[in-house]
Formats: sequence, C-alpha cells, structure tokens
Amino acid sequence: MTQTKKSIHGEWSSRLAFILAATGSAVGLGNIWKFPYIAGENGGGAFVIVYLLCILLIGLPIMIAETLIGRRGRQSPINTMSDLADEANADPKWHYVGWLGVISGFLILSYYSVVAGWGIAYVFKAFLGGFSGADGTTIKDTFSSLMSSPLQQIFWHSIFMLVTMLVVSRGVAGGLEKAVRFLMPGLFVILMLLVAYAMTTGSYQQGINFLFNPDFSKITGQAVLTAMGHAFFTLSLGIGAIMVYGSYLPNSISITRTSILIAGADTAVALLAGIAIFPIVFANNLEVAAGPGLIFQTLPIAFGNMTGGWLFGILFFVLLVFAALSSSISLIEPAVAWLVENKEIDRKKACVWAGLATWVVGLGTVFSFNVWSDFKIFDRTIFDLLDYLTANLLLPIGGFCVAVFAGWIMKPDDSEHELRSSKPIHYQIWRFLVRYVSPAAVFLVFLNVVGVL
Ligand code: PHE
Repeated sequence: MTQTKKSIHGEWSSRLAFILAATGSAVGLGNIWKFPYIAGENGGGAFVIVYLLCILLIGLPIMIAETLIGRRGRQSPINTMSDLADEANADPKWHYVGWLGVISGFLILSYYSVVAGWGIAYVFKAFLGGFSGADGTTIKDTFSSLMSSPLQQIFWHSIFMLVTMLVVSRGVAGGLEKAVRFLMPGLFVILMLLVAYAMTTGSYQQGINFLFNPDFSKITGQAVLTAMGHAFFTLSLGIGAIMVYGSYLPNSISITRTSILIAGADTAVALLAGIAIFPIVFANNLEVAAGPGLIFQTLPIAFGNMTGGWLFGILFFVLLVFAALSSSISLIEPAVAWLVENKEIDRKKACVWAGLATWVVGLGTVFSFNVWSDFKIFDRTIFDLLDYLTANLLLPIGGFCVAVFAGWIMKPDDSEHELRSSKPIHYQIWRFLVRYVSPAAVFLVFLNVVGVL
C-alpha cells in the first residue's frame, strides 16, 4: 500500500474541517440528551467520575487508534480493515470489525433519529410559545402527549431521516463540512446561558453536588458498564464513524492533538449540559432519574421563565437538532461509503436505501413509547434494547477490536508512521494504553457484568 493513498470519497479541505466534522460527530444527543439522564439514573457524582476515567483511559486511545487506522486504509471501515489486515499479514476476518460498525451505526441511527425528531417537535413548541411561564407539571404533560402519539413521532422522525439523507448524499466536502461550522460556537453560547439561568434557581449548589460529589456506594457493575458504553457512544467510537472520517484526513495532520481537542470539547459540552440541567431538576422538585425525557421536561421550564426565553428556547432546540444531524450523518456514512465502494451504486441511491431501512427500524422505537410499551424482550422495550445492545455491548466490542488491532496486529512501524508523534514518548504512552489498558478495562467491565468478578 502506498503511503500517500487518497480516498475516493474526497478529503477534508483542512485540519479545521476534520476537527469540526469529528467534533460534530462526537457532540450530539449523547452529550445533551443522554449524558444527563444516565448520570441522573445512576446517582450522579461517582458515575461522572467513572465516565471521565473511561474517556481518558479507554476513549481517547481508541479514538487515536480509529483515526490512524482510517487514515492508513483510506476506505470504508470494512475495506480499510481488510486491507490493513492484509498489510499486517493478519487474518482477513478482521474486516468483520467494519461490519460490526456498520450494523451498530444503523441500529443507533434508528432510535437516534426518533429522539432528534422530538427535538424538531420542540423547536415548534418553543416557537408557538408553549413554554412561556410554564411550570413543571405543564411541561411534563407536553412531553407525555408527544410520547403517546405515534403519528406525531413518526412525522418528526421522517423529517429528520430525510434531512440526514439529503446532507449525506451531497458528500464529504459539500454536505458534511458546512453543516458543522457554526454549530459548536452556537451551542456553547446557549449552554452558558442555561448555566447562568441555573445559577439563579437557588438549587445551583445542590445540582453541582449531585453531579460532582461522588458517592461510590451508588456504583454498581451495571453503572460502570453504562459509563464505559457511554464513553464510546459520546466519542462516536466502535462503529467506524471516526475511522471513516479519519480516512478523509490529509496526511500532514497530527492525530493525537486533534483527538485530544475533540474529546475535550465533547466532555465540556456534556458537563455543561449537566450543570445546566440538575439545578433546574432540584429547584422544581423533578425526578433526577426521569429517564430519556429528562431534558425535555427540564430545560423548557428554564426557557419559560427566563428573560428572552422564547428566543433562546427556539435557538437551543434548533442547535440540538443540528448537533444531532452532524452526528447522524456520521452514523450512516460507514454504510453509505461501503455501498458506494462495493455495490457500484451512486451516493444518492446508497443514501436512499440506507435511509429507508433505518427509518423502518426506527418505527420500533416510536412504538416502544406508546402502542408497544408493554412489549418487552429481556425485560426491555425495543428502544431500551436497541440502546443497551449498541451502547453497552456492540460499541465496546467494536472498540476493543480496534484497540487490539492497532496495538497488537498492526506493525509498530506502520502505526508509528501514521501517528508521527513529535516526541517518541507520546507514541509509547499511546501504545501502552491501547495494548494493555483499554482492552483490559473493557474486558474487566464485561466480566464484572456477567458476574465473573
Ligand atoms: N457521539 C454521538 C453523540 O454523542 C453519537 C454517535 C455515536 C455518533 C456513534 C456516531 C457514532 O450524540
């Protein structure tokens, strides 16, 4: 394989473009919707610490590994993995890791799109003044009525899928880059505003204590698995999304530095969302463990009662939807890139097929909040099952394989060449983490959950 190989799907126009796109992929519903509600369900502080450790010791090294594998292979994750396995004289079966990613991305997008659809519905609710002066009960009812209506949810889910397909069909340089440029700063500003509001609620300290005062007695094996799974989810790891973005990365760019930046921004957004939300929860006697509806039942109260809340409410949900969009495009990109490479169909057709299939599976999530809410497999609704299966099992398994591949299978010369660290010690640290620490941690968490430890 030549070392200056280029991707047939195009290349990022600059380092900033890659950072924006990868941050766009990482920052999404995971940070603003999911992180606060799982932190709430798992008792706060101690969970947050475990999550931060997972980001640092597991997420970051694997993010670097995924990016460097992607850049070396320059194709969809499936074909990249088989080429690199070939290069390392390893078993061609490694390309199944790529497959695993395509399947996980597809399953995640099916429910991600439904939740993003709730976000679009809330843009309109905010616009129509639905939150103005509202108290906790009214806001809760608003959310429940959306949950109980399959038709409304299907409508918004369809719109979100359509927009995703439209953006993805325009390709790397056209669609993906432009969508994220104004997003991050905007999101950051509104989150700061919400934090400022949270400070005025009188329960700010209580919220902060909940989020940062660890009580390790609340930590169970399941909570650790959830925290670890979320580290993968929030950094978009284990599905080939970062790998496929890495494959469009020009050769001159430092992978380590960009990865640290991206993981840092992602973590900051999640923590800010938590800091904004929990004081509102306590001030309004809401439940910390409210589950997937948490942000939809808390933030509207803030918008309904703060100066300028009408405008900020609209802006917030618009930004949330855009953040979801910049993630959803990366969830489907591995599948689309593969269809284009292997099935000889053009990007547009690939998008239509992948999008339609995702849309259909998404209906299962819609129904799990209403008509099928009693239908349980392994004691979980379809939505819960998809979420558990992907975030807690498939992503960590995918990430584990990536770590083993980068740490044990790839020739050290090749990975070192791809990383081109300015100091050899950086490479040594990364290699140690990715060979021993990350895979061992994933393995131990799994053992613990199945009850072996
Ligand atoms: N990281 C995204 C988020 O936090 C979700 C995602 C997961 C995107 C996996 C791509 C791949 O919302």
